[in-house]
Amino acid sequence: MSMHLPSPPPTIHESRLSLNRLLPRLRKSFPNDIESAEWAAFEDRLERHFPVLFDLLWRVYGPSYDFFFHVEQILRTCAEAWLARPGELKSLDATREGHATWYQSNQVVGAMAYVDLFAGDLEGLRDKVGYLKELGVTYLHLMPLFKSPAGDDDGGYAISSYREVDEALGSMDDLRQLSSELRHHGISLVLDFVFNHTSDEHEWAKRAQAGDEDYQAYYWMFPDRTEPDEYEKTLRPIFPDAHPGSFTYRTSLGKWVWTTFNNFQWDLNYRNPEVFNAMAGEMLYLANAGVEMLRMDAVPFLWKEKGTNCENLEEAHLLIQAFNSVARIAAPALVFKSEAIVAPDDIKKYVSEEECHLSYDPPLMVLLWNSLASRDCSMMLHALPKRFELPEGCSWVNYLRCHDDIGWGFEDRDLWELGINPHDHRWFLNRFFIGEHEASFSRGRLFQHNPQTGDARICGTTASLCGLEKARFEKDAHQEDFAIRRMLLLYGIIFTMGGIPLVYLGDEIGLQNDYSYENDIEKAGDERWLHRPPFDWEVAELRRDPETVEGRIFNGLLMLCRIRKNNQAFHATRTEFVDLGNRHVFGYFRVHEGQSILCLANFNDHPEEIPATRLRQLGLRKTFTDLVAGQPIVATEKLVMEPLQFMAIL
Ligand code: GLC
Repeated sequence: MSMHLPSPPPTIHESRLSLNRLLPRLRKSFPNDIESAEWAAFEDRLERHFPVLFDLLWRVYGPSYDFFFHVEQILRTCAEAWLARPGELKSLDATREGHATWYQSNQVVGAMAYVDLFAGDLEGLRDKVGYLKELGVTYLHLMPLFKSPAGDDDGGYAISSYREVDEALGSMDDLRQLSSELRHHGISLVLDFVFNHTSDEHEWAKRAQAGDEDYQAYYWMFPDRTEPDEYEKTLRPIFPDAHPGSFTYRTSLGKWVWTTFNNFQWDLNYRNPEVFNAMAGEMLYLANAGVEMLRMDAVPFLWKEKGTNCENLEEAHLLIQAFNSVARIAAPALVFKSEAIVAPDDIKKYVSEEECHLSYDPPLMVLLWNSLASRDCSMMLHALPKRFELPEGCSWVNYLRCHDDIGWGFEDRDLWELGINPHDHRWFLNRFFIGEHEASFSRGRLFQHNPQTGDARICGTTASLCGLEKARFEKDAHQEDFAIRRMLLLYGIIFTMGGIPLVYLGDEIGLQNDYSYENDIEKAGDERWLHRPPFDWEVAELRRDPETVEGRIFNGLLMLCRIRKNNQAFHATRTEFVDLGNRHVFGYFRVHEGQSILCLANFNDHPEEIPATRLRQLGLRKTFTDLVAGQPIVATEKLVMEPLQFMAIL
């Protein structure tokens, strides 16, 4: 294993010399391929991307005595993967390289689902492609579908093999077929790359448990509590309910193992360059199965350093960039999406063309829920203008919720600047979304409530958090109507704000909380199952009737999808926020290629007015159309917005 010492970065000249030294050795390992056009293409890629990869690896692993050995191993991994890459994917590489920022297009619409809950298995999913197309989906994120321990496996995030599909869902061949079929229908397959940890049943973990020291060095293991205690002085617990610290004692090993999440998820030790190489191999294997986009799971935790909180460290960024440059060499179509549920400023540090092209936008998500509860947009208007912009060539993935909880990840400074106490405000939101506040319409539940700090997060489906469950229970048609409006208001923003909109499948037909997890021994205690209901295909049939709740939500989303796809202004470039002088109404201009659209969202339960003078100040001078309602708007008159109305004004 290498020692980590700071070292000066190599020069281009040095990286060139290294490649010149490594290439002949590499060629010798592939005697049957080096005359082929494939190999020539590979060397061409190396020429272009090796200097970056070399620089990154040097900065992480540089001074170790066996550094060049490891670089050579990594290049072999790349060469093997490139040679094994199917022709269909190489064509995709060429297309994507010619259109590198395709994911910024307004044509892209995302959806996510668990394979079993949505369609039973991978074969069943192929039958549902028609439904996805009906909804306009072009990006499908399937939750982890690989082999994992029986029982609690953290919803699949404890992976026992990156090369074997969970038997209950199908096989690797099914996955390859599915990815290819999806591609032919214009849908990109997105899977997780769970690369911070493996399950304790992964082959590497099993070998480590059998006493193999080489594999023990794949993980973080300590003979006693001395070092874990040192580290824990500055770590924060992630799942305090289930697992208070970050280490687990394994009697079979007689050692403490680093387990940031659950005790069956062992953190990989990236100080060991072999781990990087092994995981690069797994990543390219997934890419060669047809995965077009990787959701880079739990990125902040990759690197550990005593005396820090072991989150967002510089080396974590360098490692992701190194994975990215491995992809440029051996699977160029592959795009990364970062999953960093950390402070807003830290989230953005993962987003660049060199690191992750895309990122979830948790700050936007929580600001939207905040405005829905408070009926007030001041926080959005204060925070977003300084936080929403991303580097060139990158894009947000905008969502209302995913399979995880909603944590109130505001930047505290933003709240203080508005005179709001962040601690008290978070508690207000928690109470609101579990239905304890008098003005609440929500039916959510607390997750990971820490009575000592008062911290907690929220679980619940979009429909239940927006008031549909309560309204139906109380048989209140007016509130039911408002719940639907709330959902379409939030989705209206998600579809137009700039970035890929991501629909949690089931939201489009208003699926409510599923309380059955309480009676399932493998799920009870993890409230996130509350918002992971099985997809109900019978209920989905109701979407065809526009009078039903399901029909209203589904058709509303369909309309938003069409508006997005038909207007280039919704390309993921500029978003200009506007202060409408009304704290209930949120507004922004989307501008691209000469088209400009003003989006307005009234978060209040009452009508709101925008004076004609304000419209004129915004440059609206004649007659416009609200694309959502299909209604004309005359800029010389005041604009009256209905309660919870979303408008896209062209
Ligand atoms: C990510 C996943 C979450 C999982 C964790 C550990 O945050 O979204 O569901 O528990 O990683 O893999």
